[in-house]
Amino acid sequence: MHSCNLQVKYPGRECMLEQDEEWFHLMTKDGQECIRIHEYERVYDVPGLYEEVVYNKLQCDSPQVLTALLKENMEAQGEETTPLRVLDFGAGNGIVGECLQDAFETEAIVGVDIIKEAKRAVERDRPGIYDNYYVIDLSQEDNRNKKKLESWNFNTLVTVAALGFGDIPTRAFVNAFNTVSNGSWVVFNIKDRFFSGDDDSGYNQMLQEMIGKSLKVYKKHHYCHRLSMAGDPLHYYAIVGRKENDFESPAISY
Ligand SMILES: C[S@@+](CC[C@H](N)C(=O)[O-])C[C@H]1O[C@@H](n2cnc3c(N)ncnc32)[C@H](O)[C@@H]1O
Repeated sequence: MHSCNLQVKYPGRECMLEQDEEWFHLMTKDGQECIRIHEYERVYDVPGLYEEVVYNKLQCDSPQVLTALLKENMEAQGEETTPLRVLDFGAGNGIVGECLQDAFETEAIVGVDIIKEAKRAVERDRPGIYDNYYVIDLSQEDNRNKKKLESWNFNTLVTVAALGFGDIPTRAFVNAFNTVSNGSWVVFNIKDRFFSGDDDSGYNQMLQEMIGKSLKVYKKHHYCHRLSMAGDPLHYYAIVGRKENDFESPAISY
C-alpha cells in the first residue's frame, strides 16, 4: 500500500517552528519540494508520505492511544461488546478508521473530512475501511448534511489530531457532537495549550462549557502526541467521555 522508496529530507534541530509551520523536503524527479506537514492536500496526494513523516519520523501514536483509552473505558462501563457506529471526524487518509476496525467490533465507520484529497487517499490506500466517507464542511449549517449524518445513528464520535491550528473550528466540532446520539462515546485529542488558560483558539472556553453541560468526561490523559521536527515532545490531552445532550452556546457563532 505504501511506497517505501520516498526520499524525504528533514530539517535539523534549528527547525523550532509552530506545529502548523513545520516543513520537510520531498525529493522528486524534478528536484526538491518544500512541503508543510499541514498542507494535507499535497501530503495525501503522495502515497505513504503522511505515514512516513507523521508516524515514522515524528512517532505519532495518537490513533493507538485514543483507541486503547476508548476500549479501557468501555470495558470499565461493561460495554466492551457494544458494536460501534463511529463518526470519524477529520478522518484524513484513514489511519484512525483502520485502527478502530482492528480494535473493535464495528457496525459502521463513516469518515468526514473537509478536503477531497483525504477521501481520494482513503480510496487509494485503505479501501473498505469506511462504510461511507463524506467531504463536507460541518462549520456551515446544512440540513441535508445534518440529516445524512444523523441517519447513521452514530454512537461514537472520534476526532484525532484535527482540532485547533486552523483545522476543525469550534463550530464544526459542536455540529459533529450534535450529530451523534445522546449517550455516544466521544473521543478526541487536543494540544494541551488549547485546553488551558493560555488558549487563544476558543477551544478551552467551548470545552469547559461543553463539559459543564453536555459531556461527561471519564478520562483526561496528558501524553506525547508526536515529536516536533526539532525532536521535542508535543503534548496533548486525550479525552474520553459520553455525550449527555446536544450542546449550544451563545459564545460559539457561525
Ligand atoms: C492531522 S490530520 C489528522 C487525520 C487523521 N485524523 C489522523 O489522525 O491520521 C487533520 C485532518 O483534519 C482535516 N480537517 C481540517 N479542517 C477540517 C474541517 N473543518 N472539517 C473536517 N476536517 C477537517 C484535514 O483535512 C486533515 O485531514
